Parts: sequence; structure tokens; C-alpha cells
Amino acid sequence: MICVPTPLANHREPDLSYLVDAATKLSRVLHEGRLVVLESTTFPGTTRERLLPILEESGLAAGREFNLAYSPERIDPGRTDHTIRTTPKVVGGLTEDCLRRAAALYRLICDEVVEVSSPEVAELSKLLENIFRSVNIALVNEMAQLCDRMGIDIWEVVDAAGTKPFGFMRFDPGPGMGGHCLPVDPFYLAFKAREHDFYTEFIELAGKLNQAQPKFCVEKIERTLNEDRKPVKGSRVLLLGVAYKAGVGDLREAPALKIIRGLRELGAEIAYHDPHVPELPELSLVSSELADEVGRADLVCIVTAHPDVDHERVVREAKLVLDLRGVTRAIRAPNLVRL
Ligand SMILES: NC(=O)c1ccc[n+]([C@@H]2O[C@H](COP(=O)([O-])OP(=O)(O)OC[C@H]3O[C@@H](n4cnc5c(N)ncnc54)[C@H](O)[C@@H]3O)[C@@H](O)[C@H]2O)c1
Repeated sequence: MICVPTPLANHREPDLSYLVDAATKLSRVLHEGRLVVLESTTFPGTTRERLLPILEESGLAAGREFNLAYSPERIDPGRTDHTIRTTPKVVGGLTEDCLRRAAALYRLICDEVVEVSSPEVAELSKLLENIFRSVNIALVNEMAQLCDRMGIDIWEVVDAAGTKPFGFMRFDPGPGMGGHCLPVDPFYLAFKAREHDFYTEFIELAGKLNQAQPKFCVEKIERTLNEDRKPVKGSRVLLLGVAYKAGVGDLREAPALKIIRGLRELGAEIAYHDPHVPELPELSLVSSELADEVGRADLVCIVTAHPDVDHERVVREAKLVLDLRGVTRAIRAPNLVRL
């Protein structure tokens, strides 16, 4: 099973170097009768057009002398309600026999295996899942920006719309999309689509909106301080949570990093507290003790709502709080502002 990183290179094109490297090494030790499954997220055609020729450098023929399949990883880090066992596993094989063998392997560890007709269908199904999230997050973030202009509470809107039992799926606004999947994977498909002279407009638009969201948050911080008669320059801003999502310490593509850079450009003094991220060496910061910092800061900005932080207490003790995650929506306080 190959599950190496599939990041983007400098020009937002797929970087398959990890896959090529792993496949090359594998081709040197591949034996007749083996099964190879690719799990990395990637564009349709990778298994057949990129992986297969490298594996065949072994001298063995794919589909006849060894089996080849694709099955996307569907893990959501930090999640406990859905596990590998309970999350259906999509599998596509190069041949009927490849599919049968790969499906049998996954049935050992997954309750449900979803067989599809080709590796390409399995590859694209994973991208559709992530693009669906990316587009919907962009949509709700755009709605949040409009609500900000209109003076309507986006969280109340989302809560109300979320009561519809059919035809609506809830997505929450926030400081922007992070992690190594959602900001990256859609561009894998955009790249492949160009090969077919096709432009994936939803993907590009969602990418653009999601990338701009941290900038909007910096501007919102600026306005919130302004309302309190303070310039950003020289103000002390405490970011609460810097990981890209709650409950984990992963910083990949975390919007907090962009917010910190944006605020520093404006001359703000930055501190942060994150129980999962002890230090940010590239920004020369270490996580502060919350109790020490919360009263000192001119503004506390909730960027990632870790479950182990008492946000009610933060609102009680801070001078001014900006909540970008909606975790304080049950609280009414004069020092509290929300996205
Ligand atoms: N982590 C997730 O939640 C998640 C969810 C769905 C899909 N994916 C996809 O799974 C893939 C891997 O993601 P990850 O989060 O596990 O990445 P990771 O960086 O955590 O792990 C990758 C692993 O690959 C190994 N590796 C790197 N280069 C190698 C090489 N040349 N040969 C052999 N091994 C090598 C690394 O040592 C590491 O163990 C990506 O395509 C990602 O998009 C990840």
C-alpha cells in the first residue's frame, strides 16, 4: 500500500515525486503475485498512467503478474465517531481480479467496501469529496463576508438553515481553510482538467475565496480594534489556537499563520496560545500561558476553537474578543465580536 504525500509544487501543479520515488523502489522488490494499492490522493489516471509504468520496470505485467488498485484514504484527523472500520472504503482495480483481491484485503479491516469499475472512478471520487467541501466552505465564507456588511449574524443564519432536515448540508464559516488536503487536492483535478482543455471554474473560484479569507480576518481584526479606538500598530493581539483545526496540532496551510503575518505587517505585537502547538519557530513565537496573556492583550482572537480551552472564561477575562469560529454564540457580552 502506497500512501506517500502528494503536495503541490511551486506553480500549484501536482508534485508526484514522492510517488515516483516510492514506486521506483517498489519496482525493484516486486514479486509475481503481489498486490499494490495506491492510497494517496491524486488526479484520475495516476494509478494507470504514472504508477503502472514504473512498477512494470520490474519486468512484471500489471493485471497479469501482479495486481494493481487504487483506494482513497478517507481519514479525518482528530475524529473519533468515524473510524477506518466504520468508514466505507472505495476500491477500483485495474482488472476484475485486481479489484477482487484489493476488496478482499480491505474487507479484513473495513465493514463496508465499495467496489467501483476502475481506478479512475476511485481517484475522482476522492477529489469530488474534497472539492465539495472546499466549494461549500468558500460559499459559507463568502456569505459570512456579506453578513458582515449587512450586519446579520452568520452563525444564526447557519444555525437556522441547518434545521432543514433535507436538501441542506451545514458548513461553518471560519478564518479560512487549512490542512494538507482541502487547500491542495482540488488543484490536482484542475491540473488534469487543463490537459483536456477544460477549466474547472468552481475549483478556481473556491480556491480564490478560501485563500482570501485570512486577509478578510486581518481586516476584521483591524476594524474591531478601531471600534475600540486602537490602531493595529502597537496593539497586542493574542491568537487563540493556531492549528488548522480543533483538537490537532497540525499547522499545514493553517490560516492562523497568514493572519499572524498580515498583522505583523501592520505593526501588531503577536502572542498565541495553543495547547497542541508549543512553538512556531518560523515566526519566532512560543505558546504563551493563557492566564498570563488573556488580560494583557488588546484583542484576543479565537482562530481555532480547541475543545480544551474555556472560551467563556476568555470572554470574561479579556478586554476584547473576536471569535472567528462561532464558539461563543451562546454568549452576549459588550467586549465580544464575532465573524
Ligand atoms: N492525513 C490525512 O488525514 C489524509 C486523509 C485523506 C487522504 N490523505 C492523503 O494521503 C496521502 C499521505 O498523507 P499523510 O497525511 O499520510 O502524509 P504524511 O506526510 O503524514 O505521511 C506520508 C508517509 O510517507 C512516507 N514517505 C515519504 N516519502 C516516501 C518515499 N519516497 N518512499 C516511502 N515512503 C515515503 C513518509 O515517511 C510518511 O510516513 C496524501 O496523498 C494525502 O492527501 C491523507
